Amino acid sequence: MEIVHTIKELQAALSALRAQGKTVGLVPTMGALHEGHASLVKRCVAENDIAVVSVFVNPTQFNDKNDLEKYPRTVDADCRLLEACGVAFAFVPSVEEIYPEPDTRHFSYPPLDTVMEGKYRPGHFNGVCQVVSKLFDIVKPDRAYFGEKDYQQLAIIREMVRQMRFPLEIIGCPIVREADGLALSSRNKRLTSEQRVQALQISQTLFASVDYAKTHTVGETRLFVEDRIAASEGLKLEYFELVDGNTLQSIADWKDTDCPVGCITVFCGEVRLIDNIKYKER
Ligand code: PAF
Repeated sequence: MEIVHTIKELQAALSALRAQGKTVGLVPTMGALHEGHASLVKRCVAENDIAVVSVFVNPTQFNDKNDLEKYPRTVDADCRLLEACGVAFAFVPSVEEIYPEPDTRHFSYPPLDTVMEGKYRPGHFNGVCQVVSKLFDIVKPDRAYFGEKDYQQLAIIREMVRQMRFPLEIIGCPIVREADGLALSSRNKRLTSEQRVQALQISQTLFASVDYAKTHTVGETRLFVEDRIAASEGLKLEYFELVDGNTLQSIADWKDTDCPVGCITVFCGEVRLIDNIKYKER
Protein backbone atom coordinates (compact mmCIF):
# COMPACT_ATOMS: atom_id res chain seq x y z
CA MET A 1 0.00 0.00 0.00
CA GLU A 2 1.18 3.51 -0.80
CA ILE A 3 0.50 6.34 1.61
CA VAL A 4 0.01 9.46 -0.46
CA HIS A 5 -0.27 13.00 0.91
CA THR A 6 -0.72 15.14 -2.19
CA ILE A 7 -3.35 15.33 -4.90
CA LYS A 8 -0.66 15.48 -7.59
CA GLU A 9 0.97 12.23 -6.48
CA LEU A 10 -2.34 10.42 -6.18
CA GLN A 11 -3.61 11.59 -9.56
CA ALA A 12 -0.35 10.65 -11.31
CA ALA A 13 -0.52 7.12 -9.90
CA LEU A 14 -4.23 6.72 -10.63
CA SER A 15 -4.15 8.02 -14.19
CA ALA A 16 -1.41 5.52 -15.08
CA LEU A 17 -3.52 2.69 -13.66
CA ARG A 18 -6.70 3.92 -15.28
CA ALA A 19 -4.89 3.99 -18.63
CA GLN A 20 -4.40 0.24 -18.14
CA GLY A 21 -8.18 -0.10 -17.83
CA LYS A 22 -8.25 -0.54 -14.05
CA THR A 23 -11.37 0.39 -12.09
CA VAL A 24 -11.06 2.58 -9.03
CA GLY A 25 -13.11 2.43 -5.82
CA LEU A 26 -13.07 5.09 -3.11
CA VAL A 27 -13.92 4.92 0.58
CA PRO A 28 -13.91 8.41 2.10
CA THR A 29 -13.21 8.30 5.86
CA MET A 30 -12.17 10.56 8.69
CA GLY A 31 -9.90 7.88 10.11
CA ALA A 32 -10.21 6.33 13.60
CA LEU A 33 -11.08 3.27 11.59
CA HIS A 34 -13.03 0.34 13.03
CA GLU A 35 -14.69 -2.82 11.72
CA GLY A 36 -17.52 -0.74 10.25
CA HIS A 37 -15.05 1.04 7.98
CA ALA A 38 -13.28 -2.26 7.33
CA SER A 39 -16.52 -3.69 5.91
CA LEU A 40 -16.72 -0.79 3.41
CA VAL A 41 -13.03 -1.10 2.59
CA LYS A 42 -13.17 -4.87 2.05
CA ARG A 43 -16.13 -4.46 -0.27
CA CYS A 44 -14.31 -1.72 -2.16
CA VAL A 45 -11.23 -3.94 -2.51
CA ALA A 46 -13.37 -6.86 -3.72
CA GLU A 47 -15.34 -4.85 -6.29
CA ASN A 48 -12.60 -2.68 -7.83
CA ASP A 49 -9.12 -3.23 -9.26
CA ILE A 50 -7.73 -0.37 -7.18
CA ALA A 51 -9.04 0.69 -3.77
CA VAL A 52 -8.36 4.22 -2.53
CA VAL A 53 -9.22 5.17 1.05
CA SER A 54 -9.03 8.79 2.13
CA VAL A 55 -8.23 9.57 5.75
CA PHE A 56 -9.06 13.20 6.39
CA VAL A 57 -10.73 14.84 9.37
CA ASN A 58 -12.72 17.41 7.44
CA PRO A 59 -12.91 20.66 9.43
CA THR A 60 -15.76 22.14 7.39
CA GLN A 61 -18.29 19.54 8.53
CA PHE A 62 -17.79 20.20 12.25
CA ASN A 63 -20.12 22.86 13.54
CA ASP A 64 -18.73 22.26 17.04
CA LYS A 65 -15.04 23.17 17.44
CA ASN A 66 -14.75 21.02 20.53
CA ASP A 67 -16.00 17.99 18.57
CA LEU A 68 -13.37 18.65 15.85
CA GLU A 69 -10.58 18.89 18.43
CA LYS A 70 -11.73 15.76 20.25
CA TYR A 71 -12.19 13.71 17.09
CA PRO A 72 -9.85 10.70 17.48
CA ARG A 73 -6.80 10.70 15.18
CA THR A 74 -5.08 7.34 14.76
CA VAL A 75 -3.43 7.52 11.32
CA ASP A 76 -0.74 4.87 11.95
CA ALA A 77 -3.23 2.28 13.15
CA ASP A 78 -5.58 3.29 10.32
CA CYS A 79 -2.89 2.66 7.71
CA ARG A 80 -2.11 -0.77 9.20
CA LEU A 81 -5.78 -1.73 8.97
CA LEU A 82 -6.02 -0.46 5.38
CA GLU A 83 -2.91 -2.33 4.32
CA ALA A 84 -4.26 -5.55 5.84
CA CYS A 85 -7.50 -5.06 3.89
CA GLY A 86 -5.63 -4.89 0.56
CA VAL A 87 -5.97 -1.17 -0.13
CA ALA A 88 -3.71 0.19 -2.88
CA PHE A 89 -3.62 3.87 -1.78
CA ALA A 90 -4.24 5.56 1.54
CA PHE A 91 -4.79 9.23 0.71
CA VAL A 92 -3.88 11.27 3.80
CA PRO A 93 -3.91 14.94 2.79
CA SER A 94 -3.34 17.99 4.98
CA VAL A 95 -6.10 20.55 5.49
CA GLU A 96 -4.15 22.97 3.22
CA GLU A 97 -3.99 20.36 0.47
CA ILE A 98 -7.78 20.00 0.40
CA TYR A 99 -8.61 23.62 1.23
CA PRO A 100 -5.81 25.83 -0.19
CA GLU A 101 -8.42 28.57 0.08
CA PRO A 102 -11.73 28.63 1.96
CA ASP A 103 -14.42 26.64 0.21
CA THR A 104 -17.24 29.09 -0.46
CA ARG A 105 -19.42 26.64 -2.38
CA HIS A 106 -22.82 26.09 -0.88
CA PHE A 107 -24.56 22.75 -1.18
CA SER A 108 -28.22 22.56 -0.33
CA TYR A 109 -30.56 19.63 -0.93
CA PRO A 110 -33.84 20.44 0.75
CA PRO A 111 -35.82 18.81 2.15
CA LEU A 112 -33.22 16.05 2.69
CA ASP A 113 -30.77 18.29 4.55
CA THR A 114 -33.18 20.46 6.52
CA VAL A 115 -34.33 17.72 8.93
CA MET A 116 -32.64 15.71 11.70
CA GLU A 117 -28.83 16.15 11.54
CA GLY A 118 -29.37 19.11 9.18
CA LYS A 119 -31.51 20.80 11.82
CA TYR A 120 -29.26 20.05 14.79
CA ARG A 121 -25.89 20.47 13.06
CA PRO A 122 -26.27 23.52 10.79
CA GLY A 123 -23.65 23.56 8.04
CA HIS A 124 -22.68 19.93 8.64
CA PHE A 125 -23.93 18.51 5.36
CA ASN A 126 -22.61 21.50 3.44
CA GLY A 127 -19.15 20.59 4.76
CA VAL A 128 -19.66 16.91 3.97
CA CYS A 129 -20.66 17.75 0.39
CA GLN A 130 -17.71 20.13 0.04
CA VAL A 131 -15.16 17.48 0.93
CA VAL A 132 -16.89 14.55 -0.77
CA SER A 133 -17.29 16.48 -4.04
CA LYS A 134 -13.59 17.43 -3.89
CA LEU A 135 -12.64 13.78 -3.27
CA PHE A 136 -14.80 12.68 -6.20
CA ASP A 137 -13.09 15.28 -8.42
CA ILE A 138 -9.61 14.25 -7.24
CA VAL A 139 -10.02 10.46 -7.34
CA LYS A 140 -12.66 10.14 -10.09
CA PRO A 141 -13.74 6.76 -8.71
CA ASP A 142 -15.99 4.33 -10.52
CA ARG A 143 -17.63 3.47 -7.20
CA ALA A 144 -17.72 5.15 -3.79
CA TYR A 145 -18.71 3.45 -0.53
CA PHE A 146 -20.60 4.93 2.42
CA GLY A 147 -22.08 3.40 5.56
CA GLU A 148 -25.82 3.31 6.25
CA LYS A 149 -25.11 4.31 9.83
CA ASP A 150 -25.01 7.90 8.55
CA TYR A 151 -28.31 7.29 6.84
CA GLN A 152 -29.05 10.94 6.08
CA GLN A 153 -25.51 11.56 4.80
CA LEU A 154 -25.87 8.67 2.36
CA ALA A 155 -29.21 10.02 1.05
CA ILE A 156 -27.73 13.53 0.61
CA ILE A 157 -24.62 12.24 -1.16
CA ARG A 158 -26.79 10.20 -3.53
CA GLU A 159 -28.77 13.36 -4.28
CA MET A 160 -25.59 15.42 -4.80
CA VAL A 161 -24.27 12.79 -7.22
CA ARG A 162 -27.58 12.79 -9.08
CA GLN A 163 -27.80 16.57 -9.35
CA MET A 164 -24.10 17.13 -10.17
CA ARG A 165 -24.04 14.12 -12.51
CA PHE A 166 -20.88 12.60 -11.04
CA PRO A 167 -20.19 9.56 -13.25
CA LEU A 168 -19.90 7.06 -10.41
CA GLU A 169 -21.94 4.58 -8.45
CA ILE A 170 -22.70 5.12 -4.77
CA ILE A 171 -22.75 1.91 -2.73
CA GLY A 172 -24.46 2.00 0.67
CA CYS A 173 -23.25 -0.61 3.15
CA PRO A 174 -25.16 -1.94 6.20
CA ILE A 175 -24.42 -0.84 9.78
CA VAL A 176 -21.86 -3.00 11.58
CA ARG A 177 -22.64 -3.61 15.26
CA GLU A 178 -20.75 -4.90 18.28
CA ALA A 179 -21.86 -8.37 19.37
CA ASP A 180 -24.19 -6.73 21.92
CA GLY A 181 -25.78 -4.41 19.33
CA LEU A 182 -24.01 -1.07 19.74
CA ALA A 183 -23.45 0.47 16.30
CA LEU A 184 -19.73 0.85 15.61
CA SER A 185 -18.59 4.47 15.63
CA SER A 186 -15.26 6.24 15.95
CA ARG A 187 -16.89 8.17 18.78
CA ASN A 188 -17.34 4.97 20.84
CA LYS A 189 -13.64 5.30 21.71
CA ARG A 190 -14.57 8.33 23.81
CA LEU A 191 -17.05 6.43 26.02
CA THR A 192 -16.01 5.47 29.55
CA SER A 193 -16.70 1.85 30.50
CA GLU A 194 -19.81 2.98 32.39
CA GLN A 195 -21.03 5.00 29.39
CA ARG A 196 -20.34 2.05 27.09
CA VAL A 197 -22.90 0.05 29.11
CA GLN A 198 -25.38 2.95 29.10
CA ALA A 199 -25.01 3.47 25.35
CA LEU A 200 -26.23 -0.08 24.75
CA GLN A 201 -29.77 1.12 25.49
CA ILE A 202 -29.78 2.98 22.16
CA SER A 203 -29.62 -0.07 19.91
CA GLN A 204 -31.61 -2.19 22.39
CA THR A 205 -34.41 0.38 22.28
CA LEU A 206 -34.36 0.49 18.47
CA PHE A 207 -34.49 -3.32 18.24
CA ALA A 208 -37.36 -3.45 20.77
CA SER A 209 -39.21 -0.75 18.83
CA VAL A 210 -39.23 -2.90 15.68
CA ASP A 211 -41.20 -5.54 17.61
CA TYR A 212 -43.40 -2.91 19.24
CA ALA A 213 -44.15 -1.31 15.87
CA LYS A 214 -45.76 -4.52 14.62
CA THR A 215 -48.82 -3.84 16.78
CA HIS A 216 -48.63 -0.07 17.34
CA THR A 217 -49.00 3.17 15.41
CA VAL A 218 -46.18 5.45 14.30
CA GLY A 219 -47.02 7.91 17.11
CA GLU A 220 -47.04 5.15 19.73
CA THR A 221 -43.75 3.77 18.47
CA ARG A 222 -42.14 7.22 18.60
CA LEU A 223 -43.30 7.62 22.22
CA PHE A 224 -42.06 4.12 23.08
CA VAL A 225 -38.55 5.06 21.98
CA GLU A 226 -38.63 8.52 23.55
CA ASP A 227 -39.84 7.14 26.90
CA ARG A 228 -37.31 4.31 26.99
CA ILE A 229 -34.38 6.61 26.27
CA ALA A 230 -35.66 9.17 28.81
CA ALA A 231 -35.74 6.38 31.41
CA SER A 232 -32.19 5.23 30.57
CA GLU A 233 -29.52 6.48 32.92
CA GLY A 234 -26.79 8.60 31.35
CA LEU A 235 -28.61 9.14 28.04
CA LYS A 236 -30.19 12.30 26.69
CA LEU A 237 -32.26 12.09 23.53
CA GLU A 238 -31.67 14.77 20.92
CA TYR A 239 -34.24 13.41 18.48
CA PHE A 240 -35.93 10.27 17.30
CA GLU A 241 -37.71 10.51 13.96
CA LEU A 242 -39.67 7.93 12.03
CA VAL A 243 -39.15 8.87 8.41
CA ASP A 244 -39.64 7.75 4.85
CA GLY A 245 -36.26 6.20 4.03
CA ASN A 246 -36.14 7.95 0.64
CA THR A 247 -37.41 11.47 1.36
CA LEU A 248 -36.31 11.51 5.05
CA GLN A 249 -39.58 13.28 5.90
CA SER A 250 -41.52 12.26 9.02
CA ILE A 251 -44.31 9.80 8.50
CA ALA A 252 -47.64 9.89 10.33
CA ASP A 253 -48.77 6.41 9.36
CA TRP A 254 -46.93 3.20 8.46
CA LYS A 255 -48.81 3.29 5.16
CA ASP A 256 -47.03 6.56 4.23
CA THR A 257 -43.95 4.67 3.04
CA ASP A 258 -42.76 1.23 2.07
CA CYS A 259 -39.41 2.02 3.66
CA PRO A 260 -39.85 3.34 7.24
CA VAL A 261 -36.62 4.15 9.05
CA GLY A 262 -36.15 5.26 12.64
CA CYS A 263 -33.25 7.70 13.07
CA ILE A 264 -31.97 8.52 16.53
CA THR A 265 -29.37 10.81 18.07
CA VAL A 266 -28.51 10.50 21.73
CA PHE A 267 -25.96 12.15 23.97
CA CYS A 268 -24.15 9.73 26.23
CA GLY A 269 -22.42 12.21 28.50
CA GLU A 270 -20.70 14.53 26.02
CA VAL A 271 -20.52 11.95 23.27
CA ARG A 272 -23.08 12.33 20.52
CA LEU A 273 -24.11 8.96 19.10
CA ILE A 274 -26.34 8.22 16.13
CA ASP A 275 -28.04 5.04 15.02
CA ASN A 276 -30.95 3.98 12.84
CA ILE A 277 -33.15 1.01 12.12
CA LYS A 278 -35.36 -0.12 9.25
CA TYR A 279 -38.95 -1.21 9.97
CA LYS A 280 -39.42 -2.90 6.61
CA GLU A 281 -40.08 -6.39 7.98
CA ARG A 282 -42.90 -5.12 10.21
O1 PAF B 1 -18.84 9.70 7.18
C1 PAF B 1 -17.74 10.27 7.34
O2 PAF B 1 -16.83 9.76 7.98
C2 PAF B 1 -17.53 11.66 6.74
O3 PAF B 1 -18.67 12.43 6.83
C3 PAF B 1 -17.01 11.61 5.29
C4 PAF B 1 -18.02 11.00 4.35
C5 PAF B 1 -15.71 10.83 5.24
C6 PAF B 1 -16.72 13.04 4.81
O4 PAF B 1 -15.76 13.67 5.59
